[in-house]
Amino acid sequence: MKKLVVFSGAGMSAESGIQTFRDSDGLWEQHRIEDVATPEAWAKNPELVQRFYNARRKNILAAKPNAAHHIIAELEQDFDVQVITQNIDDLHERAGSSKVLHLHGNIRFSKSSDPKAGDHATLYPILGDSLDLSTDKCPKGYPLRPHVVWFGEAVPAYSEAERVVQQADIFVVIGTSLQVYPVAGLVHCISSTAQAYYIDPKANQQHLPQQYQKIALAASQGINQLKQILLT
Ligand SMILES: NC(=O)c1ccc[n+]([C@@H]2O[C@H](COP(=O)([O-])OP(=O)(O)OC[C@H]3O[C@@H](n4cnc5c(N)ncnc54)[C@H](O)[C@@H]3O)[C@@H](O)[C@H]2O)c1
Repeated sequence: MKKLVVFSGAGMSAESGIQTFRDSDGLWEQHRIEDVATPEAWAKNPELVQRFYNARRKNILAAKPNAAHHIIAELEQDFDVQVITQNIDDLHERAGSSKVLHLHGNIRFSKSSDPKAGDHATLYPILGDSLDLSTDKCPKGYPLRPHVVWFGEAVPAYSEAERVVQQADIFVVIGTSLQVYPVAGLVHCISSTAQAYYIDPKANQQHLPQQYQKIALAASQGINQLKQILLT
């Protein structure tokens, strides 16, 4: 079976009703990222950060995978599919994708806010939609924080993602503005023989190596079109 690697960003979940980031003037649900998605924000105002992610988690739990998530899961019948996502939602998993690597974490898990916990801290599933600063704590007594990679933090899964991308026979980039580094660099890791596609309504505005074929459509239409190309 050919190895098909999907690299998704926030646009993948737009049709599920989850706002992207760049499409709203660099604000994330009306917040500046510096105020809610950095270690400095957590140090300064953990209540705000916790409230922000509790609200995101609530939205994500209420959302459903869209047609694009479902088509990607169905492609497992014909390809060895590996998803690499920048998204912190779990919509790929809920659509049935079996191999999903989260580069920026998964909002349904928490970890200790102990600064010494490191990149491979124990993860705890979050049962409801909220984390409580005063009662949800790790065994050492530090409050639990969302398992998300904040701006300025390391991306521990990056080297694994790089290895996976290098092995792709087919590489599909969907719904990402490719502005967030280091992960945007993955588009340059493909082998010279890979078939590469970029699906995004703004695909034609993106500068990419010539190896990429651009499909300037929303995720569901774009992946549907690609499925026809790959299966005929
Ligand atoms: N769902 C989520 O988990 C979520 C949502 C917002 C932001 N984020 C985080 O913010 C960062 C933002 O970077 P990014 O590049 O992923 O997103 P981004 O917001 O920077 O870019 C979104 C991209 O999606 C495209 N898009 C908009 N509607 C689309 C649709 N219907 N179908 C396909 N594409 C569409 C836009 O043209 C744009 O290129 C990520 O690292 C991510 O962790 C995550």
